[in-house]
Amino acid sequence: MKIKLHDKYFTSFISAREIDAALDEMAVKIAADIGDVVPVFIGVLNGSFMVVSDFVKKYPKPCEVSFVKLASYEGVESTEDIQRLIGLNENVVGRTVVILEDIIDTGNTLECIYDIFNNKGVKDLRIATLFHKKEAFRKDLKIDYIGIEIPNKFIVGYGLDYNGLGRDLPEVYQIKNTQRMTNIVLFGKPGAGKGTQAEFLKTKYNLVHISTGDVFRFNMKNDTELGKLAKSFIDEGQLVPDSVTIDMLQAEVEKNTDANGFIFDGFPRTTAQAEALDAFLDSKNMELSGTVALEANDEILIERLLERGKISGRADDQDEAKIRNRFEEYNEKTAPLIDFYSTQEKFYSVNGIGTIKDITERLSTVIDALKVEA
Ligand code: AP5
Ligand code: MG
Repeated sequence: MKIKLHDKYFTSFISAREIDAALDEMAVKIAADIGDVVPVFIGVLNGSFMVVSDFVKKYPKPCEVSFVKLASYEGVESTEDIQRLIGLNENVVGRTVVILEDIIDTGNTLECIYDIFNNKGVKDLRIATLFHKKEAFRKDLKIDYIGIEIPNKFIVGYGLDYNGLGRDLPEVYQIKNTQRMTNIVLFGKPGAGKGTQAEFLKTKYNLVHISTGDVFRFNMKNDTELGKLAKSFIDEGQLVPDSVTIDMLQAEVEKNTDANGFIFDGFPRTTAQAEALDAFLDSKNMELSGTVALEANDEILIERLLERGKISGRADDQDEAKIRNRFEEYNEKTAPLIDFYSTQEKFYSVNGIGTIKDITERLSTVIDALKVEA
């Protein structure tokens, strides 16, 4: 099951039943080790409230329960600076204390709490945690009891939150890996069929289609400042300057932060745009899955575009000279991207001649393989 908290998606990870079984085991083991001494279980708020509540119900012998609090996790990354401990009113001198954590990842919080208790004259100090991220743990501290080892992924539910949400969930969810997004550049000369194919692919793969050409034309039609600027270049078959195009593309992506992925059609068209796209996606924790080129020869493309020009009203489709100008722009500025993406092992090409349906099939074969790799 998939849930959304704030801007992020999470998928089911550990069921309520698995949590229950892990707590059962921990309770039996801790009771066996401690024997008849009455321990004080110390929960670390806020996250541990569910673990402690369920755990002490399972604990087979008398025990005391208390909570302490430290301000710590903020957002996805655990913060380094630990604040002071509040809420401990019990006298723990000579007692058996078990710190009961919901999760231990870097161990920063734990170390701080451990040190505080160590200085309070506790007789026997133990650490128990429901979840443990072995890969993230960086401290030289022995954790006496671990319920479930988990990989170094951000999780929510069962007391754990993402910016305040998710603590109430009875089971645990893991953050949906954004790399699973399918982000594709549809590449090809003018008339290759990028726009035509994007229409089918966006439905099939539930992607957001961004055609920079369409965005420019929309602005031209509405006579915006951007439209006026772009028109002088587009009508002549020249590229619009990078600075304008890159900002516009980023704004279009930002409008669709919920997307499963994107089809970039007509972007990038220069090395500067490709570099900007990589950097921008990286800043969003996203990446390109692949670039797929539709291949067709110039004569066929010119025929297609002149044909479309009869009805499209696109000034750049009206005569062969302008169309050839677009090809020249492509050869000079866009074709180098084939090397750019080949170097990243992200370049694929398919035959763009044939029926529209056949070409959709060819593209789908490439995209399906990309999805398996991811
Ligand atoms: P843009 O709108 O991207 O135009 P283009 O790249 O020249 O490509 P087209 O949209 O003409 O072709 P397409 O590959 O989408 O093919 P389509 O599916 O329509 O850019 C326009 C201008 O905006 C640029 O010149 C530039 O000035 C500016 N611009 C845009 N992005 C920019 C950027 N990143 N940086 C700078 N400037 C930028 O198909 C073409 C025709 O063929 C259609 O009539 C279709 O019905 C037909 N067809 C499609 N498939 C087939 C098939 N299999 N068999 C027969 N006919 C087919
Ligand atoms: Mg197009």
